[in-house]
Amino acid sequence: MIKSIIKGTGKFVPPNLVTNKDLEKIMDTSDEWIQQRTGIKQRYWIPEEGVTGASDLGLEAAKQALDEAGWTPDDLDFIIFATLSPDIMFPGCGCFLAAKLGLNSTPTLDIRQQCTGFLYGFATADAYIKTGLAKKVLVVGGEVHSSGLDKSTRGRDVTVIFGDGAAAVCIEGVDTQESVGLLASALHTDGNFAESLMAELPASRLPQRNPPGVSLDDPRYFPVMDGPSIFKKAVRLLPKVTHEALEKAGIGLDQIDLVIPHQANKRINQAFGQFLKLPEDKIFHNIEKYGNTTAASIPLALHEAIEQGRIGKSGETVLFAALGAGLTWGACIYRFL
Ligand code: UT7
Repeated sequence: MIKSIIKGTGKFVPPNLVTNKDLEKIMDTSDEWIQQRTGIKQRYWIPEEGVTGASDLGLEAAKQALDEAGWTPDDLDFIIFATLSPDIMFPGCGCFLAAKLGLNSTPTLDIRQQCTGFLYGFATADAYIKTGLAKKVLVVGGEVHSSGLDKSTRGRDVTVIFGDGAAAVCIEGVDTQESVGLLASALHTDGNFAESLMAELPASRLPQRNPPGVSLDDPRYFPVMDGPSIFKKAVRLLPKVTHEALEKAGIGLDQIDLVIPHQANKRINQAFGQFLKLPEDKIFHNIEKYGNTTAASIPLALHEAIEQGRIGKSGETVLFAALGAGLTWGACIYRFL
């Protein structure tokens, strides 16, 4: 039976390190507030000069993942790019990334499921692999948030939490009877709460997507978020979807070696761990270094967890879980070959 196996991972963050102290200089916030409420100490933003899109960050992460897998771009049957911050409105980042990899006919797909993007991407790759539509798939999560944030005090609740970055995973279909690969995924959406985290403009639903004479003082150009309500939903739904995925995989929580949650807020993940009654060392955090990199956060954390030897040995099982704009949420369980 064909199983979806991770063959390589990669990550890339832009060089511009932004500390909480740096943010204190541009808005009414404090290092203490940010650390206490979110666990974040710093994040990376793209340089203020030049042109850097999510596909550029994704390219560097992809090259690393391909190297580790021992693949060349030509080996790829399919590229999936998860992002909420595409380089431009269209075409999608997958198109740009494929061209930057030197490809001119490999199929690509962009996924717009925000913080859950990597999970939707992994589940989609798995479906392509198991139905024989593809054998070697590259899944990339990449975000450039910094160019679209409201860096005045008005936007401080959102701006302090987001960072730019990308990560990539090479996934291959392997024929084996062992219980390995993506064991289960449980994915959800509730668009009734779309407005609790969104960026409204530009909007193709308007007669004119970019209304003439708009001022960037218009808050609809920036992401707005009902943080406390999302926080409560995350703490309730992440444990629930975790149990759903465990049930689908037919395994217990005691068989999970490491939980890698989306890195939105350290407090959310600590509460999630407490609900599951997990020892602290079973939950992976790296939000203090990168902030919330949305679709990149889970693969970025996976890459680092493997690098640190926290996960990755044959037979070890990792659970990914995320909730974010949409609202979308989900969990996937993966066992290493
Ligand atoms: O990844 C996508 C999914 N998103 C999430 O998972 C985010 C979930 N939500 C959160 O992580 C938290 O709600 C936040 C970190 C965004 C906010 O933390 P909170 O503990 O929920 O704070 P709050 O929004 O209730 O605000 C508390 C106070 C307010 O002041 P008053 O009204 O009590 O005077 C805010 O104006 O903190 C103020 N505040 C800030 N102060 C300093 C909000 N943002 C900041 C800031 N610096 N950056």
